[in-house]
Amino acid sequence: MLRHIVIAGATGEVGKELLGLACALPQTEVRALVRRPKTVPASAAIETLFDYEDLLAYDRLFSTIPCDVLLIALGTTTAKAGNQGLIRVDRDYPIALIDALERHHPQACIGFCSSVGADQPRGNYLRAKAAVEERLRQCPLAVTVVRPSLLLSQRQEFRMAEHMGAAFAPLWLWAVSKFAPSSEFAWKFAPIHVSTVARALLNTTLGISPAQHVTLQGLSLRQAGE
Ligand SMILES: NC(=O)c1ccc[n+]([C@@H]2O[C@H](COP(=O)([O-])OP(=O)(O)OC[C@H]3O[C@@H](n4cnc5c(N)ncnc54)[C@H](OP(=O)(O)O)[C@@H]3O)[C@@H](O)[C@H]2O)c1
Repeated sequence: MLRHIVIAGATGEVGKELLGLACALPQTEVRALVRRPKTVPASAAIETLFDYEDLLAYDRLFSTIPCDVLLIALGTTTAKAGNQGLIRVDRDYPIALIDALERHHPQACIGFCSSVGADQPRGNYLRAKAAVEERLRQCPLAVTVVRPSLLLSQRQEFRMAEHMGAAFAPLWLWAVSKFAPSSEFAWKFAPIHVSTVARALLNTTLGISPAQHVTLQGLSLRQAGE
């Protein structure tokens, strides 16, 4: 039977990895929701233009397309979108997707890319992630939440924290492996590659049972993405 995967944020660093992995799965139709046409790299995915600001678009989407798995890797920064913009992208858009999915596809499962620190949120960004996680806790659908730390990727845009993280990552990862290999705390904050995050999110979401909720961070996130 054909499986239908929908990805929100497929043009981002985690999203591109999710897209590549999902498109390689057998008997799977992959749909990427995008805000600008022709932004998804050439792949077997269907590109669907989606206006996240249109409140009616969510029900319109899920009432007309099949969806077994929804993967959410949306995100922005305050520098790019301002405080209110960040809240829209990191909190309101994911929650609107989840609400509409639950209404139209109660058998589907959800994979959500959150962030380390969402369990003890401080500041707009982590509060937005925590709000989505809270919505997911109330959700009867099967759910995987991943909480990565600093992402390592080939991002074109310059982001200082990621730039510094990438520079120190080899030393950081070596030190954790050598001196604290089983320390959940140390792994939780160690930089992690986007491919590991995407593999963990996709594989776990595909493997969970109905109504099961799984949260991965630190060591469990790395192990699931190996
Ligand atoms: N960066 C880190 O170190 C880090 C650490 C922990 C957790 N995270 C979280 O991990 C997730 C993935 O991060 P990432 O670095 O892969 O993200 P990213 O590269 O910045 O990609 C973000 C995605 O969200 C979409 N998006 C942004 N603003 C939008 C808007 N106004 N309307 C519609 N779509 C919008 C982007 O679409 P366009 O291509 O059209 O802009 C893109 O597909 C995010 O939720 C992030 O918060 C990141």
